[in-house]
Amino acid sequence: MYYLNDNVKNLYRIFDQNERKDYVRLDLNENPGGLPGDFIQTVLSSVTPQFVAQYPETLHFTEVLAKFLGTDISRLCLVNGSAEGIRYIIQAFTSPGGRIVGVMPSYFMFQIYSEMYGRQFVKVPYNDDLSMDVSRIIDEMTEETQLLILLNPNNPMGNVYSDQEFERIFRVAQEKEINVLVDEAYHYFYPKTFIQYALNHDHIFVTRTFSKLFSMAGCRLGYVVGWPDGVKMVQKLCTPHNTNAFAMKIAEAVLENPVILQQLIADFNEGRQYLIDWLDKNGYRHKGEAGNFLFIKPRTNAQLIVERMKKEKKILIKTYPNVGEFGDCLRVTIGAKEYMKQFTDALKELDQKISV
Ligand SMILES: Cc1ncc(COP(=O)(O)O)c(C=O)c1O
Repeated sequence: MYYLNDNVKNLYRIFDQNERKDYVRLDLNENPGGLPGDFIQTVLSSVTPQFVAQYPETLHFTEVLAKFLGTDISRLCLVNGSAEGIRYIIQAFTSPGGRIVGVMPSYFMFQIYSEMYGRQFVKVPYNDDLSMDVSRIIDEMTEETQLLILLNPNNPMGNVYSDQEFERIFRVAQEKEINVLVDEAYHYFYPKTFIQYALNHDHIFVTRTFSKLFSMAGCRLGYVVGWPDGVKMVQKLCTPHNTNAFAMKIAEAVLENPVILQQLIADFNEGRQYLIDWLDKNGYRHKGEAGNFLFIKPRTNAQLIVERMKKEKKILIKTYPNVGEFGDCLRVTIGAKEYMKQFTDALKELDQKISV
């Protein structure tokens, strides 16, 4: 009989995110503007036929990244987007049927990978006021739990953990011997990090990406930080030459050019301030202390707004159903002010209660 893995057969995936190039993309937390065009041109001008012909060499870029992070290469594994690193951590550090604890709503791939490998994903819900009760997370950290997944900051809520909260959770994880994964995809939009735990302790990983602030989602590049023996296990799962030469070339240029990073952060901050001021002025409730996204409670139907934004305004945003006291919400990526203005102009027009 032809064999097909039941986990794969029963897995539900969404593959409708192509053909987005003609839209203002505020749905997947990419930078809608991207890196400066002249910077990209300069970096690519040194590309030779040999560069394209050869398999990518990861050692040099890993060393550059290690220096940037103030660590050494034994604590780093490059991955083809941090989503790949997350998958390998789940594969290596949990067993079939194994218990994985994570907050919900959250980045959906944690659940997808859990289902893909037949793991049991235990969801810790938010409070109705969209705050996260750390005791609920700790309650779920049972002796059988193999992996705890946290995000700093969380997507889509944008909430964060205080140092005391994180320390409390980590101590329980150590007592009960639960590996911890902290997803820091949105680091830099929110400067506080728990990377020092992954650099100084065993059994904790931090994953990061070049897709968000670094504006390189099209290149697919991320990394896993952890203790050397843990990192080796992740490396074992990587496909050969898993990270792209162009991605590492552009990332190296960004890392070595602090002005570019500062500009990306400044543009983001200006866009964020504009959006928050506009929402406050117009009486919108919103949530998202950190991250390059905001959660907005619309006045009218969230799903309809998303559909009309796409069709009439060529703007892509996302909707999240049943989110605590917010109910059905919009989630919008924050970009430079010009993109936020396009969004607020559209929202003003499309989110009007019809008075009779
Ligand atoms: C919380 C979180 N983690 C990880 C990722 C994956 O990022 P990438 O695979 O592009 O590095 C995303 C993407 O949106 C995300 O929101």
